[in-house]
This record gives sequence, structure tokens and C-alpha cells, in this order.
Amino acid sequence: MIGLRSLRPDDSARLYRWRREPEVDRWMADLPVASLEGHGLWFDTFMADPDGRGWIITDNDQAAGFLTLTGLCGRHRRAAWGWYIGEPASRGRGAGRAAQALGLDIAFGELGLEKVWAEVLADNDTALRAQDTAGFRREGYLRRHILKHGQFRDVVLLAILADEWRARRTAVRGSLVQSRLIAP
Ligand SMILES: CC(C)(COP(=O)(O)OP(=O)(O)OC[C@H]1O[C@@H](n2cnc3c(N)ncnc32)[C@H](O)[C@@H]1OP(=O)(O)O)[C@@H](O)C(=O)NCCC(=O)NCCS
Repeated sequence: MIGLRSLRPDDSARLYRWRREPEVDRWMADLPVASLEGHGLWFDTFMADPDGRGWIITDNDQAAGFLTLTGLCGRHRRAAWGWYIGEPASRGRGAGRAAQALGLDIAFGELGLEKVWAEVLADNDTALRAQDTAGFRREGYLRRHILKHGQFRDVVLLAILADEWRARRTAVRGSLVQSRLIAP
């Protein structure tokens, strides 16, 4: 079963490790923070900042990934979506989609947002497929937008509105419940 739990101070070290995993770093726009000390500063700032919320994605109660919503303090009732599955063994089995459904429920339920948007590297087929199944729609395409390891990369802008998630949630959740990825 996949779950979400709030971030705790002792999550800092695992986030440092996960963010440096080649399969995670490969799909991030920025480089990972170079030192553990720098990462600690980022983590403490993130934990204290009301503009962002983070959750640990759990796989059978074990920490497996990270999900963030940022930009929460703006007045537009929207937030930016960020996520990865850090534990290789939990990737590619539907854990991401399950966490996505749980995260969208928080975004449009508890947090009362109107819109969740994401920037995805254009060749990240796994993320694009997963976000498509939840109902994210393409809102833009930014050519040669990111410079990473000496290469320019294109970015797809995706977004989902509260009503779009509400229209889709029963079907999306139903399939995840059937696969025993989330609880009914
Ligand atoms: C992107 C990412 C979060 C997606 O999470 P994931 O758990 O790997 O991916 P999914 O939840 O989509 O599951 C992948 C596969 O599991 C299977 N699956 C999905 N839903 C399922 C379900 N309900 N029941 C059974 N199997 C399922 C499918 O075979 C799916 O493959 P498909 O895309 O060919 O259909 C993850 O791959 C990751 O962290 N990648 C690296 C970092 C990254 O790209 N982050 C996003 C940056 S925008």
C-alpha cells in the first residue's frame, strides 16, 4: 500500500541520498545541492517555510519517495507539483500514480487549491504518462529551457484544475484500489 506522511526532521538524510540517485537527478531541472551541509540548510528552510509542504511517499510503511507542493502562500490558490520515487525498488510499479492521487486529494481537499501545475522535462515519458492518467493537461511547451550537464532540454508545462480532478478521482482511485495500491 502506498501512503503519504508529513515530513520529519529525520528525513533530511534520506532526501539527500535520494536526490543524488542518478535516475532521480536525471529528471530534475537543477543540480543536487553539492554538500550535506548545504542540503541541511535547504531542508531546515523548507521545513520552516509556509510556502511549501512536503510529504514522504511510503511503500508498505517504508519511506520510498518525496512529494512537494510549493507556492502555497500566493493568492492565486495554485501550487507547483514536485515528486520522485527515491527508492529504486519502489519505482515503476504504480507507487508514483498512487501517491499522485493521494497528493491531489490533499491539494484540492484540505488545501483548497484551484490549480496544481508542473514542469516536466519533455523526454520524461514515465512522468508524463503518470500525470496524464490523473488528468493533468498540457498548457505549454518551453523549448531549450533548461541547461543541464551542458545540454539544453525542453520542458512541458502541465496543470490540473480542481474540477478536473473531481471529475476523474473516482475512476483513478478505483483502479488504484483494485491494484491494492491505496486503501478504499
Ligand atoms: C515519475 C515517477 C514519480 C513515477 O512514479 P512510478 O511509480 O515510477 O510510476 P507509475 O506510478 O506511473 O507506475 C509505472 C508503471 O507501474 C504500473 N502501474 C501504474 N499504475 C498501476 C496500477 N494501478 N496497477 C498496477 N500497475 C500500475 C504501470 O506498468 C506503469 O507503467 P506505464 O507508465 O508503462 O503504464 C518515478 O518514476 C520517478 O521518481 N522517476 C524519477 C524522478 C522523476 O522523473 N520525477 C518527476 C519529475 S517531473
